[in-house]
Amino acid sequence: MCGIIGYIGKDKCIPKIIHGLEALEYRGYDSAGISYILNNKVKTIKSEGKIANLKKLVTFDENAYLGIGHTRWATHGKANKTNAHPHTVGKFTIVHNGIIENYSEIKEKLIKEGYKFKSETDTEVACALFDYLHKNEKDILKVLKKATSILRGSYAFGIICSDDPNSLYTIRNTSPLIIATDKTGNFIASDVPAILKFTNKYILLDDLEIAKLEKDNITIYDKNLQKVKKTINTFSQSFESATKNGYEHFMLKEIYEQDEVYNNTINYYFDGTIESLENSFKYLNEFEKFDIVACGSAYHTGLVGKYLLENYANIPVNVEVASEYRYKKCFYDTKTLVILVSQSGETADTLAALRKAKEDGIKTLAIVNVVGSSIAREADYVIYIKAGCEIAVATTKAYLAQVAIFSLITTYSSYKNKQIKNDELKSLLEEIKSLANKIKETINNYKTYFSIADKIYKNKQIFFIGRGIDYAISMEASLKLKEISYINSVAYQAGELKHGTISLIEKNTPVIAIATDKNLIEKTISNIKEVKARGANVILVSNTDFKDKFYDEFIKTINVHPILESIITIIPLQLLAYQVAKNNECNIDKPRNLAKSVTVE
Ligand code: M6R
Repeated sequence: MCGIIGYIGKDKCIPKIIHGLEALEYRGYDSAGISYILNNKVKTIKSEGKIANLKKLVTFDENAYLGIGHTRWATHGKANKTNAHPHTVGKFTIVHNGIIENYSEIKEKLIKEGYKFKSETDTEVACALFDYLHKNEKDILKVLKKATSILRGSYAFGIICSDDPNSLYTIRNTSPLIIATDKTGNFIASDVPAILKFTNKYILLDDLEIAKLEKDNITIYDKNLQKVKKTINTFSQSFESATKNGYEHFMLKEIYEQDEVYNNTINYYFDGTIESLENSFKYLNEFEKFDIVACGSAYHTGLVGKYLLENYANIPVNVEVASEYRYKKCFYDTKTLVILVSQSGETADTLAALRKAKEDGIKTLAIVNVVGSSIAREADYVIYIKAGCEIAVATTKAYLAQVAIFSLITTYSSYKNKQIKNDELKSLLEEIKSLANKIKETINNYKTYFSIADKIYKNKQIFFIGRGIDYAISMEASLKLKEISYINSVAYQAGELKHGTISLIEKNTPVIAIATDKNLIEKTISNIKEVKARGANVILVSNTDFKDKFYDEFIKTINVHPILESIITIIPLQLLAYQVAKNNECNIDKPRNLAKSVTVE
């Protein structure tokens, strides 16, 4: 999704801004632009497509020391140069992340006041609003405060006003924004990687706070324009963690990191004893049921979580997509814990679902990767997964770590609710502690998965089937494949196929069948035989050996306790998706139309 970087200081700003934009590329974008102050005047350069296009247009060593840059992921209006940011209206030039919901009505009023608009964007309207308010109020801070009472929606703005060419202003509501400082000057950015080359110290701006950055000063104000003191955070991961480190793609590197990520995540909450789980998760005992709310892959981890918690801990779980949940009637009560799952911690719908639950007086738990993100900060309880920086748009290591957390809390709740015998618990705890070796072993078997990918990558559609938890895994495997390879792929409950979808199966249609749940394997095999009889090319993923060969290809996964099985099973499917996309020469780390962090609804 859109990225913001701004700089004011002693160094020339253009190289820093371009670097920041490149570091934000992973978020996904379709145009880019930069504005800077040169000889007290604003100069703007924009281009459609990649930052490489923008770089051809800029002069890197201009004597400019204040500037803002933006990567735009189109929401209002096409991805073209006119709609690209920054936008200038009158004395204001701005970049914006988020969506202004009431921009049409503001635009109508401003047109009546004589404003003319060049682009289709809500951002240009916000810019015009700042300019309009500035006509009667010269204090820019007061202009911004007034604007927040008019603008509805989500926003993080980087703002330059030609009346004050020595200051960079910023304000946020819901959309993320950080402020950072190095020995040469000060930055604003939508995300830490943008500034990591220069500094690892940053400040998180809260909703409706306004900041004024000068070359050697940062002042932050609350919504009543009272100065506020902010904590300076340190980003503890290295710049290395945000680079490919020799791998061809971030996605591959992140898949390979999964044994380490698993250990980092698990070890933070668990030392091998049930007492450590009690210390980490005892607050869960206050609740009788869970609502798990998330988007995309994080939603899929919720589906795995539901299956685990219901089956092994006897806790009823409702899983919902956040964009639906935020607007639906919820039947939660004080015994319900609403669990928000999010890698970025900034997904707009998930954040809105969290706020809705809080407004209704319901307790919330965030399972989040990005430390200090909005969801993490606003939830009552937080479980951080320790996935490190995830750059590839297609999540892998964060998904695995989220599932690992559901395995941990299921183990704990299953013990607490007396759903597991002592002997089984003892061996399960040992298995949790040593699972990283099996994760590594599964990744190292990549040649098997790659050779299957080589056989199916030309197909136009690929189906996934499974029952129970295997269906939840199918959902994620199917999303992984389609988002990076652009091959149409759908996941079905294995028993549901014959109610319509089986008519799509013809000779050689790949059907990837996941069958790891021992209680359901027999049933899934019957469904596999149904598609095989209709010519499907069946790729079976299972932890069990079979006497009959009712499949065409077999991916054998390592047998582990059922509470841990899904952690292992997803790995071959991630690698298969990767190789299919690679064979199709797709842009694996930055698939078309997608953004890493979806900060608009
Ligand atoms: O940052 P979040 O986990 O909240 O993001 C949720 C989804 O946007 C994300 O999982 C998306 O589906 C991924 N691209 C899937 O690989």
